[in-house]
Amino acid sequence: TKLHLEVLREMRSRAVLGGGQKRIDQQHARGKLTARERLGLLLDEGSFQEFGALSTHDLSAFGLDQQRFPGDGIVTGFGKVNGRRVAVFAQDFTVMGGSFSEVQSQKISRIQDLALQAGIPVIGLNDSGGARIQEGVRSLAAYGEVFVRNVMASGVIPQISVILGPCAGGAVYSPALTDFVIMAGESYMFLTGPEVIKAVTGEQVTAQDLGGSEVHIGRSGVAHLAADTEVEGLAMTKLLLSYLPQNNNEEPPHVTPEDPVNRMDEALNTLIPDGENTPYDIRDAIEAIFDQDSFFEIQAAYAANAVIGFARLDGYSIGVVANQPAFMSGALNIDASDKIARFIRVCDAFNVPIVTFVDCPGFLPGTGQEYDGIIRHGAKIIYAYCEATVPKISIVTRKAMGGAYVAMGSKQMRNDITFAWPSAQIAVMGAGAAVNVLFREEIKKAADPAAREKELLEEYREKFFNPYRAADVGQIDEVIEPRETRPRLIRALEVLRTKVQQNPPKKHGLCPV
Ligand code: COA
Repeated sequence: TKLHLEVLREMRSRAVLGGGQKRIDQQHARGKLTARERLGLLLDEGSFQEFGALSTHDLSAFGLDQQRFPGDGIVTGFGKVNGRRVAVFAQDFTVMGGSFSEVQSQKISRIQDLALQAGIPVIGLNDSGGARIQEGVRSLAAYGEVFVRNVMASGVIPQISVILGPCAGGAVYSPALTDFVIMAGESYMFLTGPEVIKAVTGEQVTAQDLGGSEVHIGRSGVAHLAADTEVEGLAMTKLLLSYLPQNNNEEPPHVTPEDPVNRMDEALNTLIPDGENTPYDIRDAIEAIFDQDSFFEIQAAYAANAVIGFARLDGYSIGVVANQPAFMSGALNIDASDKIARFIRVCDAFNVPIVTFVDCPGFLPGTGQEYDGIIRHGAKIIYAYCEATVPKISIVTRKAMGGAYVAMGSKQMRNDITFAWPSAQIAVMGAGAAVNVLFREEIKKAADPAAREKELLEEYREKFFNPYRAADVGQIDEVIEPRETRPRLIRALEVLRTKVQQNPPKKHGLCPV
């Protein structure tokens, strides 16, 4: 028996070394951590149980028989994050560049299957040169196995992809199918790399300029969060998990609140500037209203005219959606529509109530937006709000104009409760445009057209640039002082906590894309 144990121990210690000490040193020299070091940072100490540490391929083409490493370039298993179970896989770049093989696919699929059955989130740490070239079509087919499981698990268990190195070609699509993509350290993602691009289009671009985190966090919208270092990226992953339930049948974890329910921040009463178009930062309101330091913004650098993120109210996880008057006056464009709609669906899938702050002059005008399909993109927001059955509350802080009023969670779209601040302006369109449409002739014929126009503008503003018309007709449930927002939201969500609402049975809806 001693011999048996020795064999096992030796095999295990070989597996821990992945591609060997030299490769580990190279990984470190690039400023990157190894797969196991990353799992050590992500998981609670001593919680990791590995599966498949000794599995390897049995192929021999292109000298593969000389390159057999226990584990085959991926570490998979289960562990805990802050005491909660998670399934994990971490690609090991020290083994053939972490290239994706049939064995990798079998190992990932195995934990995906177990995680889906057990209702446990899956976190993937990606660092791979893509499909293992020597395996040919086997490695391509192997991607399909993972994709189909990503899709079946979508909306059932949270799936988070952390990109910590290359993620190219077919490798990008598993992350893209998951709920959140976090890029950290020396990471990049692209479908076709700089070499291919140069050959096909003649463009010259570096890997970072093509698919680094700045591109995906600011421009493409592919990534939701980014961190300079791997350590920060993994800490972010843990924080993100803390707002999410284990699966769609559970509620997100409740944290013992330290912030008093009745705390009222007087500064909120003067947050909205006197000037009708003067910008202010809606994040100041969010910070003041939600539990102290609980706001966790997502996709901050992408479509900054909309703000999304998780926060807590009295310890409960909340999805926050807001127009951002400090950027593009908070107008909705294509990117902001995609950002908001997707986040609403994530919140709805995982039982996170949604609080929406509305200050939006409308959809962004222009041929660019119209030609690129703002109609179908904007429709996604409407679709997502209408479809969502979680508790939904909106607060009109200032402008709620036209289509944007309807889109940003009006009552008819199954919004549960609507508050307005006294600064709210709820109208079909802005004063200038409205007066021009309604009274063009009258102004033209007036003895003093400029004076008449001014008069009509004032009349329009007086009529519509307040929340009271909307409150009269029941569109606004209650006009509140801004400082009262926190206690009112907490009490309202308390009422809605047991809300039950169902959508008609169907195969699936046809959300505009
Ligand atoms: N299949 C098999 N082996 C791979 C691989 C792949 N897809 N990607 C990387 N490797 C191997 C490399 O051959 C190298 O092995 P070696 O050191 O024994 O020669 C090792 O992994 C490390 O790769 P290396 O190229 O030295 O690392 P890098 O950081 O300089 O570059 C990449 C990383 C990902 C840019 C580069 O490896 C690459 O272009 N890989 C191919 C990407 C691709 O097109 N994949 C198919 C997409 S579906």
